[in-house]
Amino acid sequence: MITTTDPRVAAAAIAGGHLAAVPTETVYGLGALASDARAVARIYAVKGRPADHPLIVHVAGAVAFGSWGVRIPTYAHALAAAFWPGPMTLVVPRSARAKDFITGGQDSVAIRVPSHLDARAVLLELREITKDPAVGVAAPSANRFGRVSPTTAAHVVDEIGGLLQGDDVVLDGGDCAVGVESTIIDCTGPNPKMLRPGAITTQDVEAATGLKVTHDSTVRASGTLNSHYSPNATVQLIAEANIAFEVEGAAQGVIGLLALADIETPIGAVRLAAPRNAEEYARVLYAALREADALQLEAILAVPPAATGVGVAVIDRLIRAAAGA
Ligand code: TXA
Ligand code: MG
Repeated sequence: MITTTDPRVAAAAIAGGHLAAVPTETVYGLGALASDARAVARIYAVKGRPADHPLIVHVAGAVAFGSWGVRIPTYAHALAAAFWPGPMTLVVPRSARAKDFITGGQDSVAIRVPSHLDARAVLLELREITKDPAVGVAAPSANRFGRVSPTTAAHVVDEIGGLLQGDDVVLDGGDCAVGVESTIIDCTGPNPKMLRPGAITTQDVEAATGLKVTHDSTVRASGTLNSHYSPNATVQLIAEANIAFEVEGAAQGVIGLLALADIETPIGAVRLAAPRNAEEYARVLYAALREADALQLEAILAVPPAATGVGVAVIDRLIRAAAGA
């Protein structure tokens, strides 16, 4: 495995059929050329992910959207114009380019244009190397299946470094600014459907499209399994008023607390993070869950943020982490 800060090294690796972990504004992805069945199969092997779970195809610009998707509804173009590049993934009917090994055999494909400068640099360099304006990088979050997504290059190395091969690359682009995975919107029906909450909210989608967002969907999304994003420690969502009671019942030093900064840490608990608002909560969430495991804590108490903005996504991930015990 090669660690680098040079996006061209990651692009060359991907073009050569290897894997590259690449930073995005949400979380780090484990990327391979989306047209390369062998390389994509290695993503599944490294992640330990079931083969029928589809991957997101990352592209450099919205022009590639129409190359991977077909019958793209007007509202999806409106979303692309409003929020790309950015932390949003759109699921549309697939073109012949999106093979079964990307879509898990589904008739739809998930597309995203990331805004992280390193991710963009990798995609633009790949366009040069391959001479393919719609070249795509298939990339799930660079964690083992069901585990916490990485938001730093060090997390990636901890998580999968031992499973990567000599020519695979980890591109270090610093800490991820958003910290939770992209909003996924199913655009295969008459209205946008929210498959996974993220930094782009239901209100954002409704404002950009003028349409009501629905929440039921028959499309599979592995990040929407009940148990996901799980550390080894158990996670329990709790109200501020109950913190002292919960901590008192436990042995000293085995409980971690994750809560907004204005909430105090009771004696006996280890403070994992004290974010000042929902955006910061999202940014530090996964590092805090990893920290709890590094400290070998048995349990994490999490006081969720308010359910507005990216707070909705934080609550969603906490609930799934809590289900993963
Ligand atoms: O922020 C993100 O989205 C990160 C960065 C790396 O882009 N990626 C990410 O990928 O979270 P992953 O594979 O961990 O989660 C992608 C989710 C999965 O739940 C998958 O099932 C869903 O997207 N997905 C992919 N293709 C789909 C499709 N055609 N229909 C429905 N869901 C799909
Ligand atoms: Mg994931």
